[in-house]
Amino acid sequence: MYNVKKITQNLTWVGANDRRLAMFEGVYSVPKGVSYNAYLLQDEKTVLFDTVDKAVHHRFMENLTHALGGKPLDYLVVQHMEPDHSAVISDLVARYPSMTIVCNAKTLAFIKQFYDIDIDARVKIVTESDTLSTGKHNLHFVMAPMVHWPEVMVTYDSTDKILFSADAFGCFGALNGALFADEVDFTRDYMDEARRYYTNIVGKYGKQVEMLLTKASGLEIKMICPLHGFVWRNNIQSILEKYVLWSTYEPEEKAVMIAYASVYGNTENAAEILSSNLRDRGIKTVMFDVSVTPASEIVAAAFQYSHLVFASTTYNAGIFVTMEAVINDLVAHNIQNRTIAIIENGSWAATSGGLIRAQLTKCKNMTFIDNMLTVTSSVKEAQLPGIALMADMLAATFPDSGNTAKPKDIDSNTMFKISYGLFVLSAKDGGKDNGCIINTVTQITDNPIRISIAVNKTALTHDMVVHSKAFNVSVLTESAPFSLFQNFGFHSGKNMDKFSGYDENQRTNNGIRYLTENTNAVISARVTDILDYGTHSVFIADVTQAFTLSAKPSATYQYYFDNIKPKPLPAEEKKAGYICKICGYVYEGEPLPSNFICPICKHGAVNFEKM
Ligand code: FEO
Repeated sequence: MYNVKKITQNLTWVGANDRRLAMFEGVYSVPKGVSYNAYLLQDEKTVLFDTVDKAVHHRFMENLTHALGGKPLDYLVVQHMEPDHSAVISDLVARYPSMTIVCNAKTLAFIKQFYDIDIDARVKIVTESDTLSTGKHNLHFVMAPMVHWPEVMVTYDSTDKILFSADAFGCFGALNGALFADEVDFTRDYMDEARRYYTNIVGKYGKQVEMLLTKASGLEIKMICPLHGFVWRNNIQSILEKYVLWSTYEPEEKAVMIAYASVYGNTENAAEILSSNLRDRGIKTVMFDVSVTPASEIVAAAFQYSHLVFASTTYNAGIFVTMEAVINDLVAHNIQNRTIAIIENGSWAATSGGLIRAQLTKCKNMTFIDNMLTVTSSVKEAQLPGIALMADMLAATFPDSGNTAKPKDIDSNTMFKISYGLFVLSAKDGGKDNGCIINTVTQITDNPIRISIAVNKTALTHDMVVHSKAFNVSVLTESAPFSLFQNFGFHSGKNMDKFSGYDENQRTNNGIRYLTENTNAVISARVTDILDYGTHSVFIADVTQAFTLSAKPSATYQYYFDNIKPKPLPAEEKKAGYICKICGYVYEGEPLPSNFICPICKHGAVNFEKM
């Protein structure tokens, strides 16, 4: 039995709903079903705007036959050739042999590709701004390529001010007896499905949607009739505003979407701790397990929210499969203008974080929170500050965070007021011994005795610790000569044996060498966690051995500057240039490039002072 809906005196909805379809286009779940809309205009001529999917063919034919009331169908306007709207064309041609098919040239080619019908004798080709008078109504054709296929066009009825919008302004969900968006609580019950429909179906083509919106802005529109979902006759501005945001990839809401892929719950744990930290800072979060949430929902949420966090375990030396699919989907849908943070997990070789970042780097205008968090199997107590820091860094990008600290507000000299020690960090990897100077060794906990060290990633010793997961720290005394700092601090171990001349047999239980002179204590440690902070890694490690060698006072960073580091040349011998406050390297020339990196100690221009 027919089931039609009157829209105006002359316009009738003759579409149908499908609630049995599991996957729209074979990929998007539609738990609330989907409608296939077709509209019959009855003027001096009868005009049908599009047909329906083959799944609802029968009901559509009943509706159309009833609505026509025995009249012939004069025109079929084919706005979109995708088969969910064109499946009944062949049957209509057979049933209404005098019917003219109105379409553009691209549509004609597609009709010939999809169907075997004699069309050339019954087609009327239209181009941009062509019109068709049906009696009282004047139809204007507006090309809308790539919204969603290249042949798409929309039609404006300038008599009743109705825009037949093809896929634009569509929505997943069966109509359930209502036809107009104002008959339901659209924002509460359907906006999520409208967003999921838009972002997944035409999200990639924001520019083309913008072009259509620009064309539409010049029209007086009283009603929008899309091919899926509800007809808009009230509050049209509300859906137009969403389309402006979606098509320009601007978020609707300042909030954090956290999507995670977790095999045994440990990556999920990290994601939840971060989410909890963000909530503590007053920031809205939404979370998705990418293995159980359809990718289309995550794509839609990524368009909705301003900040995106991806937490993924490493799998087959890559991104976990379900996360990889989501990331690929987001890149394919052209996601832009978002702030991104990444958590990776890997029990022996974490790679997922770097790979996610590399993928998202392809997108426009992405801002990455630099301190990617690396979890090694499970989150440890020592990583909680790292997660809190990530929450802080995300929070700092929110407009009302109150965090107004910017580089211009930071006097880098302040950092030199912090008291530091000086240490030789040594490691052994693949039969090679090596060491470097570091200044940050801190005891974190007493039971177990646990320390942290921060190491510049450019140092060979850094990589050796990453691989071997073990190191020694020799605590330097005030007696340490400048030559010791030159040996361990100013050269790379790639090109020399820094322990040349030192006693080969002085090794701790872990087999790693240590210094016996100018050292008052030695600490051996086994790495439990590695935190990635951009230029540096922070190693969290359990102490496995520790002993003292002398009662000489430890050298502080300040003591080094005041008493060990050679003083600058007298003024008359100075050349124009800058001196590294860390290692004493002299850059001759003026000015010092802002991106200059010290070739000796790898510190940046900010650590240089004018001579
Ligand atoms: Fe509903 Fe692009 O078709």
